[in-house]
Formats: sequence, structure tokens, C-alpha cells
Amino acid sequence: MLATNKIPPHVKSARLKTWVTEMIALCKPADVHWCDGSQEEYDDLCEQLVAAGTFKRLNPEKRPGSFLAWSDPSDVARVEDRTYICSTKKEDAGPTNNWVDPREMKATLTKLFDGSMTGRTMYVIPFSMGPIGSNISYIGYEITDSPYVVVNMKLMTRMGRQVDEALGESDVFVPCLHSVGMPLSPGQKDISWPCNPTVKYIVHFPEERLIWSYGSGYGGNALLGKKCLALRIASVIGRDEGWMAEHMLILGVTDPKGRKTYVAAAFPSACGKTNFAMLIPPKEIEGWKVSTIGDDIAWLKPASDGKLYAINPEAGYFGVAPGTNYKTNPNAMRTIEKNTIFTNVALTDDGDVWWEGMDGDPPAHAIDWQGKEWTPDCGRKAAHPNSRFTVHASQNPAIDPAWEDPKGVPISALIFGGRRSTVTPLVYQPLSWAFGVYAAATMGSEMTAAAFGNIGEVRRDPMAMVPFCGYHMGTYFNHWFHMGRKFPIPPRIFCVNWFRKDKDGKFLWPGFGENMRVLKWIVERANGSARAVEGPLGYAPTYEDLDWRGSDFTHEQFEEVMSVDRAEWMKEILSHDELFIKLYDRLPKEILSVRDLLLSGLYRSPNRWQPPDYGTVNS
Ligand code: GTP
Ligand code: SPV
Ligand code: MN
Repeated sequence: MLATNKIPPHVKSARLKTWVTEMIALCKPADVHWCDGSQEEYDDLCEQLVAAGTFKRLNPEKRPGSFLAWSDPSDVARVEDRTYICSTKKEDAGPTNNWVDPREMKATLTKLFDGSMTGRTMYVIPFSMGPIGSNISYIGYEITDSPYVVVNMKLMTRMGRQVDEALGESDVFVPCLHSVGMPLSPGQKDISWPCNPTVKYIVHFPEERLIWSYGSGYGGNALLGKKCLALRIASVIGRDEGWMAEHMLILGVTDPKGRKTYVAAAFPSACGKTNFAMLIPPKEIEGWKVSTIGDDIAWLKPASDGKLYAINPEAGYFGVAPGTNYKTNPNAMRTIEKNTIFTNVALTDDGDVWWEGMDGDPPAHAIDWQGKEWTPDCGRKAAHPNSRFTVHASQNPAIDPAWEDPKGVPISALIFGGRRSTVTPLVYQPLSWAFGVYAAATMGSEMTAAAFGNIGEVRRDPMAMVPFCGYHMGTYFNHWFHMGRKFPIPPRIFCVNWFRKDKDGKFLWPGFGENMRVLKWIVERANGSARAVEGPLGYAPTYEDLDWRGSDFTHEQFEEVMSVDRAEWMKEILSHDELFIKLYDRLPKEILSVRDLLLSGLYRSPNRWQPPDYGTVNS
């Protein structure tokens, strides 16, 4: 039969062989391809994708080794309302996750997967989240009928034959089943972006450590090592084993003395992680340098030296294209000069890519992400707001030499930041781990195009993890408090907001490379050398405490972006209660204690608090 003879002889894991055999019988593909992860395999698949019309090869002079894909208009972002955590008990998934009884969900999905790969090739992708063979890594196997997924997984993970060898006879891997949900009858011609435009399910079985995804071919819905395994499933494993899987970038900061400090930062989707992870400091901040460990996911583990260590489980970047240019993020622009897969950006007449916010003038003419003629005055966006690039991390000129170190890097500070046009100041440091966990747990952010939903609406997005936590958020907060108690000195926690706006809707803070001024203060604070004053939310820098070399940002502007309005904050804290009531059955007791202390501090603060003026500016 087709099934067994498609499993290569070097594959030894009994559980893996049984699972793949069963999935072949269920999905009924025309053929099976076991991925070896080689460059030849990648090139062949890219050729096939070009022939199928999924990929356009970009002009090799402008963008060597690169391709452009346009998705179906129904398949451009994560589908949170179709994403499920099917734990045995509903209470364990909590009120922020969709839940269906796992038996019922399996029955529904088994019907959908039955014959779902008819007429297609099934690919079996061996992948490792984290360096292959390291004891902190997790192996996954993704079965998919999408060659687009295979080539993206090759860039985003460690993928191929070495993973089969690292697994050996072991049964410990996360099975990930994926189908675009569009079977082909004999003679039926495929379309360039197969997906199921109406039926989509992104499903996690946390106790079984199992993932089933149906109907979407896009990003976090389909590249199952990323949000599904490395966050939703890994968050459950971390809770059980005493570590944390977080939606965080990891970066290193080198000071002029050559001393290196690592920090991790959680911002919600499309709120600046990739940009911050690749930051280039203003040249006047001499001798300071930032290097990248990761741009989206961090696995954080306490080590025997009493410190928290972080690894990036990924091997590539799936980054937001719009707004990326040589001024905002030069390192990203250099990273994607070659060997890059672009999804849903515009195609220029000279065979290159374009998106809103790229350098220079818009092209006079292009083909937009929906394949339509586009001119600057046509009233439509050329690139989808959630258009993305996929690229291997090794092409990042700012990659940190330790980015693949299986030990990870020691983390001195954790930073949290939402997208808030009002209320939250540029930066502050909560008073302690508990105050920091409270601030992170109540983080609000305006919705972006990274998921379907009401763009711009503020929602509570604790730790930027609401879409990615595989269990009850109340239990998750408790896990955070518990983790803090493991360290003699836990990492310092900081809150930032790059997105505050003035009355006319203009950003108050220039952002991007300028964020270095805030990062430098954070690093110095974490290392015990920077000054701060006490404000109603915690410690804050005064104007004099930040390095303004090369900047014309004024004292008044700083006061504006740092101000804390008492009435606004009273309302903000009231709206925290909405979240707490929702999570009531598992809410840790510390949360309400911290809320009361915060209220008490705000109560005695002036109506509009701003950092005091100490008069001397450093230069
Ligand atoms: P995901 O990949 O969805 O998790 O997103 P991300 O958090 O990595 O966000 P990314 O760095 O890709 O930035 C998303 C958008 O925010 C882009 O359009 C950026 O140009 C913009 N952005 C990033 N940093 C800043 C900043 O400091 N200020 C402003 N105003 N915009 C920023
Ligand atoms: C996000 O939405 O946070 C992303 C993109 O990083 S996706 O892979 O689609 O999750
Ligand atoms: Mn993300």
C-alpha cells in the first residue's frame, strides 16, 4: 500500500510511523513526500510553486532568490475566532480561548480531513524548535498538503533529515496536521492559493500536545511550529515543567565598555517586536549596539545560577512588510535583500516588491496584492496591511553570535508594551516583580491587521499572549508570580508605549531607532546605574535621565509623552476589572492587592503627573 512504503527506512520512531500511516489513510493524498530539508528540495518546490502560479519569481538582479505569493483574500491573517484550545475540561482553556470538547472537535475535524488531500501531495516536515539535538528543543512533525508551507518552514525552523536523526527511536514529538482543505478531483486544475474560503479550524489539544489545522494556508494558521507549537502548546508544557513560552523578542545591548545586557520584550502582533529586535541606535549614542537573538518568540527558563535564560525557538523571521524601510528598520531591509519569500505585497513593473511605507516615492504603477492594476491615486492599498516577508535569521546583519546557543542568554529585563494612542506613558518601571506582572497582565493594545477583528479597538492583551496562551489566563498569571519567586533577584520589568498620539493624531514619540534612548535607560536601570523618580505607576526617568545626544526632542514633548492623567488612569483601572471579573475563577490573589496599591498611589498623585524637572541635561 501507499502508506507504509512512503516512510523512509531511516525513520525509526514507532509512534511517528504509526501516526503518519494513519494520516495518509485519513487524508488520502495522491503522493507522499518526506522532506529532507536540502537546498535542492527547497529550489524544486519553489520551481513547482512558480509553475502552479502560487509564486512569482522576482527580478534576480533586484531581489535574488526571492519570490512573491498572493493569498486568497479570505486568507490574510490569523483567524482567532476559528482558533481553539480543546483541553479535556472547558475551565482549563479559560474564557479567553474558544473551546469545544476534544472528542466532538476530533469527530468534526476527522470528517473534514477525510480525503482532504485527494489529488495533492502530502509533505511530511520534520522540524525542531530550538537548535537540533539540544535538550531545550522540541521536535515537531508537520504533515501538510501545502508546498508554500514547506518552503516557509524551511526558513522559519531547523528542518529536515537531521531532525529525523535527532528523534531516532524516541516517541517525543508534537504531531501537527495541516491541510488547506481543498481536495482536487481528477483533472481539476488547482488554483494559485488553495485554501478553504469558508471553513477554517486551528485546533490545539494541549494535554495530548497535538495540533490540527484545516482550511488556511497563511502564517500563524499554517506554519504550525510558530504560534501553535512554540506558544500555545509550549505555554502548557512550560506551565507543567516550570518555564515560560512567551510572545517576545530577545535582543542584546552592548555598551561602550563592551558589556552586554540581554532583554526580552513582549509587544502584541504588529506592535514593533521585529523593529525593536533589529534596532540601530542613533549614531550620536556612541559605542552602543543592539544585536538580535529573536524577533517573535522566547522560551525562558530559570537556570541553576539563579538567572533567567532565553532562547529563540525559531530560525527565521515572518515579519510585517508595511512601514519597513531603510530609515525605520535598515537591518530588516538588508536581511530581505535576497532569498526571501514575500506574501501579499505589491509587484512593481521591474519585477521587485513594494509596500506602503517603503523608501522613496510610490511607483507610478504596480500590481497590488490582489493582482489588480494599482496606481498611487487609485484609493486602494498596494500591499495588504498584514503582508509579510519570510527570511532566514542568518541573513540579519545584526544577528547576535549567541543566537543559536542552546544555553540561551541571561535576561536582565523584561519589557512590555502595547499600542496605545492615549493613557500610557512612554516608559516606566513597575515597583517590583508583582507590580510588573500586574502591569503586563493588564496591558491594553489597539487591534492591528495581524488578526481579523475591529482594527483600532483597545483590548486587554495580557503579556501580548491572549491569542497565544494554551490555557486559562488566570492560571497563566499565577504561573508568572510563581516564576518570580524562583529567583533571588528576578529580572526587572519595564513598560513602554511607542504609540502615544497628540490631539491631531500624530505620534508624540519618533520611535524606531530613537527607542534606543529608552532602551539605554532600561539597561542602565537593570544594571543599577540609572536614576529614576517615583511616579504613581512606578519609577520613571526625568528628562535629564535619558540620553538626548543627536535629538531635538524637547522637555515639553517629553512631559507630554510621559504624563499620567489621574482621571484617565482611574478609568483604565476600572476597565482592568472587566478582565479580572472574566478571569475570576482563577485570578491570583496578588492581582487585586496590587490594584489596590496602585489606586492608593494614584489617589495621592496630582491630576496630571509628569516627571519633575532637575534642570541639567546630559550631553
Ligand atoms: P508580529 O510579527 O505581528 O508579531 O509583529 P511585530 O511585533 O514584530 O511588529 P513589527 O516590528 O513588524 O511592527 C509592526 C508595525 O509597527 C510596522 O508597520 C512598523 O513600522 C510599526 N512600528 C514598529 N516600531 C514602531 C515605533 O517605534 N513607532 C511607530 N510609530 N511604529 C512602529
Ligand atoms: C503575529 O500575528 O503575531 C505574527 C504573525 O507574528 S503569525 O505568524 O501569523 O502569527
Ligand atoms: Mn507575533
